[in-house]
Amino acid sequence: MENNSNEQKPLDVLVLAAGLGTRMRSGLAKVLHRLDNRPLVNHVCRTATALAPRKIYVVIGHQGEDVKNAVLEELDRKHTEFVWQKQQLGTGDAVNAARPFLETEDSTLLVLSGDVPMIRAETLAALIQQHYNHRGRGAACTILTVRLEDPTGYGRIVRGEDGLFSRIVEQREATDEERKIKEINSGIYCFNTKKLFAALADVQNNNVQGEYYLTDAPALLRDTGEGVSLYHHADAREVAGINNRVELADLERILSRRTVSRMMLDYGVTFIDPKNAYISERANIGRDTVIYPNVSIEGESTIGDGCTIRTGVRITNSRVGHGVTILDNCVITDSEISNDCTVGPFAHLRGGTKMDERSKVGNFVELKKTVLGRGSKASHLTYLGDATIGEKTNIGAGTITCNYDGKNKHATTIGNNVKIGSDTMLVAPVKIGDGAVTAAGSVVTKDVQDDTLVAGVPARVKKNLKVEEENQSAEA
Ligand code: UD1
Ligand code: CA
Repeated sequence: MENNSNEQKPLDVLVLAAGLGTRMRSGLAKVLHRLDNRPLVNHVCRTATALAPRKIYVVIGHQGEDVKNAVLEELDRKHTEFVWQKQQLGTGDAVNAARPFLETEDSTLLVLSGDVPMIRAETLAALIQQHYNHRGRGAACTILTVRLEDPTGYGRIVRGEDGLFSRIVEQREATDEERKIKEINSGIYCFNTKKLFAALADVQNNNVQGEYYLTDAPALLRDTGEGVSLYHHADAREVAGINNRVELADLERILSRRTVSRMMLDYGVTFIDPKNAYISERANIGRDTVIYPNVSIEGESTIGDGCTIRTGVRITNSRVGHGVTILDNCVITDSEISNDCTVGPFAHLRGGTKMDERSKVGNFVELKKTVLGRGSKASHLTYLGDATIGEKTNIGAGTITCNYDGKNKHATTIGNNVKIGSDTMLVAPVKIGDGAVTAAGSVVTKDVQDDTLVAGVPARVKKNLKVEEENQSAEA
């Protein structure tokens, strides 16, 4: 037998992601269903990247354009190749679709399933290492297997009397005796690329499903005297495949528990009700922060030290500083909140919002693309959109930036130490100078100079506050 000497070969990865996933009973391709708020296939692709392969081939078919776009959020185009499988004729046919790209490559091919998202890079590295080391020569194929108490649905690993690999039998074709086998095929394999494609040419579809099974290839390799190795992994949860929504929910829970435990043990975060916290694996939370029940922290969010996050808050892709209090039922997206701010209850911070230190946003206040300066406050019933607000300014209850004229969005600029009276309408584009005051119920349609009081509909200048102040001090 030829020395496989796999070690010198470059590594390529192939991800199977063309199937519909009938058992999901969904209009959405299975690999696009989300775990930790990211498509399943992206979990697999991110893990593959950690192995620094030469290229990642993704086999697409069902909703292929959507799968492609999802994958490109995770992988760079240069190291990614999309392979179309026009009809889904089975996993063997899916790999075969990559034949024009890979058939003659002298490489090691790691085959991953788009629906097995929890696999860790360390495990894959160990699989590859065994593939290289098998009997000192390297194997033509190495299969990642685990033992499951309930192996239903998975392909079973049949070992010969010598204990060595004999073949994989799928659930549907397995005899009652074979169904008792608890060692299963994870759907993750390493192959000598050329030998895989040679064997695939001989795979037939004469089975219950009428499909070309990739799982027939290892036995064909063995029959031609090639080395097939089994890499047995202890942690079965890592290779759990998602075939229906119950399995998806199970994995979501496992992942979430794992993240919450890590945050309690390693980061020093308090969770009042750890079972009812939904924290993204990619989030970061600081020491002595307290998280109340039913809080969701999604995406690449960062929360600082000593914060309090009350019940029912959702924070997505946002940065929160230290010592921040977020009261109940706030929604915060793509925003930045600096140290010692207070938000809520019932506040909505939309994309592009920035709250500077010690600023405050209160009940029923919505901010969009708005900067609220240091120490400034918008405490009640307010909409601020496309606005820049200076320091120590107070925005009265019921203030609205009228930023949309039916066609375009316009900016509002408010200076430092401004007092916007209750129920002021700021008709953008408009600028309010430092130290200015708007009376309650003003409709401001023109710029207001520094230290000026305006009132009315439309608002007119009533007083120069600076002059008045000087007069008052002259009288005193
Ligand atoms: C497969 C294995 C089984 C293994 C299990 C582990 C086969 C025949 N069986 O079964 O031994 O225990 O995975 O999770 O391989 N796909 C395509 N094109 C197709 C068919 C499938 O791209 O024509 C993709 C799917 O999108 C999916 C992956 O291949 O990501 C696996 O397919 P699936 O139908 O889920 O295989 P299982 O029945 O789970
Ligand atoms: Ca599967």
